[in-house]
Amino acid sequence: MSASVLTAVAWPYANGPRHIGHVSGFGVPSDVFSRYQRMAGNQVLMVSGTDEHGTPISVQAEKEGMTTRQLADKYNRVIAEDLQGLGLSYDLFTRTTTGNHYAVVQQLFLALHRNGYVLPKTTTGAISPSTGRTLPDRYIEGTCPICGYDGARGDQCDNCGNQLDPADLINPVSRINGEKPEFVETEHLFLDLPAFTESLGKWLSTRTDWRPNVLKFAQNLVEDMRPRAISRDLDWGVPIPLDGWRDQPMKRFYVWFDAVIGYLSASVEWARRTGDADAWKQYWTDPSAKGYYFMGKDNITFHAQIWPTLLMGHNGQGDKGGEPGPFGTLNLPDEIVSSEFLTMSGSKFSTSRGTVIYVRDFLREFGPDTLRYFISVAGPENQDTDFTWDEFVRRTNFELANEWGNLVNRSISMAAKNNGAVPAPTAPKAADEELKALSRNAFGTVGGHLERSRFKAAAQEAMRVVSAANKYLSDQEPWKLKEDPDRRDAVLHTALQVVSDANTLLTPFLPHSAQKVHELLGGTGVWSAQPEIREVTDLDDESIEYPVLMGEYAAEQAAWRSTDIEVGRPLNKPTPLFAKLDPKLGETGPDWAPIEN
Ligand code: MF3
Ligand code: ZN
Repeated sequence: MSASVLTAVAWPYANGPRHIGHVSGFGVPSDVFSRYQRMAGNQVLMVSGTDEHGTPISVQAEKEGMTTRQLADKYNRVIAEDLQGLGLSYDLFTRTTTGNHYAVVQQLFLALHRNGYVLPKTTTGAISPSTGRTLPDRYIEGTCPICGYDGARGDQCDNCGNQLDPADLINPVSRINGEKPEFVETEHLFLDLPAFTESLGKWLSTRTDWRPNVLKFAQNLVEDMRPRAISRDLDWGVPIPLDGWRDQPMKRFYVWFDAVIGYLSASVEWARRTGDADAWKQYWTDPSAKGYYFMGKDNITFHAQIWPTLLMGHNGQGDKGGEPGPFGTLNLPDEIVSSEFLTMSGSKFSTSRGTVIYVRDFLREFGPDTLRYFISVAGPENQDTDFTWDEFVRRTNFELANEWGNLVNRSISMAAKNNGAVPAPTAPKAADEELKALSRNAFGTVGGHLERSRFKAAAQEAMRVVSAANKYLSDQEPWKLKEDPDRRDAVLHTALQVVSDANTLLTPFLPHSAQKVHELLGGTGVWSAQPEIREVTDLDDESIEYPVLMGEYAAEQAAWRSTDIEVGRPLNKPTPLFAKLDPKLGETGPDWAPIEN
């Protein structure tokens, strides 16, 4: 039965190009998952966009001598191009500065407010004594009061993952100019988190299929629910639609508050763009729809605690009850799929600390599928993982080029040379049947792993079919069967069938090369669809234009099953699928990201 699957992908800040650490957290896993779900016959809505408000954007704009709007425009496009280049199949990749997003954020907020889950409160905020301007939480650094880590930021500690208030930090200093911030009184809106203690705790206790570390983390958060500010003293963000707040130029929603609501607003925008303005409901208010959220581990709090409470508050399902808001009763997340960090020589991949390998440079030199494969099979799925050029070279050369590329190449070349077409199977022997059964059975195994976002295991199981097929060819030695063309045809037919199956199994990981193998096997049309950049106008303001990623994924042929290859399809001599990398790369790195000794 076909299911509705929402793939909600964390929104990258529009403050710089993406590096391979970013896309190993939210990017490649969410795309592999979505491609698999579509191939399995489910209806998928995969949404995200650039996260364009808040201090990460204003601080970078200042650095680059631009307005926040100019900076957001610049990196919205750069990031859309990075993600398109990797082949991430978003149904909509948009941005948070659209009229539609503002409207959805404000409507959701008003429902939350009507249901009594928002409290105004006077609090202390940090200002820079030298400039008199508000100092963003993220740009205050100090010692974490919980774990003692001395690089904690005012908004959160990357070491223990806890959310912090800048005033909690021990020995706070400004990361902008090193001065000690001054704390002053200011009025803010707070999400009444204590009013979700029971409802959130109850809901979490039903999340038995979450990864244990995510569930534990979320359950710990319920132990200590304190009101949390959802507004900031800032002129860049979504305005607050309440009397007394609406017209204040320096009061805006906190960037995280508006960003998580982006999952809903992007779904609404997608529906409006496809011509059926209600189409989003299939993914949000049908109780049988499933919602999967993909992110790096530093985003867990906002997805496992804050976002569920916002949804419950809107729905009237918190401890104080209430009425469903304008969007109806919205589904809570089914699964939070978080990755650990990809590091390089021990330091978190971050533009502020350590070495950076940009997606753009990577794609230019190595293409998308080698990176997608590396992240899937050797990425930070369950633990922090150090990226090394050495391992990248080994995975590419031994697994993609020698194992997979070589299997495709020799099977198709031999059939092209001997038959010029897919040969007919004649009197299959036990070895042929065994190999075909192995690859047919892999659909269940690999699919089972992908459903649970176990990408490493899934890729390894798919590659087992490739190894078995290579061994089969070495054992059967079709090149020695000149005198027995019938047997040779049977062997080549079997090999080509298993190449076709393995190509299907590898399609979620390697969608670009899968299209190529489809064509090498004589197929035509779109096997695996790719996202396109489309220039659109804002749905609520014709004067604004921006690029989005969208695609015609429903039309692709790829389906999660073994498809019988067509006897007689013409075959040509193939060109290599993956170029072998010079092993020296493993020692030196490329010149744009050299290994420093
Ligand atoms: N921009 C945030 C980050 O890069 C992620 C936002 S995810 C969302 O860490 F859900 F809030 F959109
Ligand atoms: Zn800490």
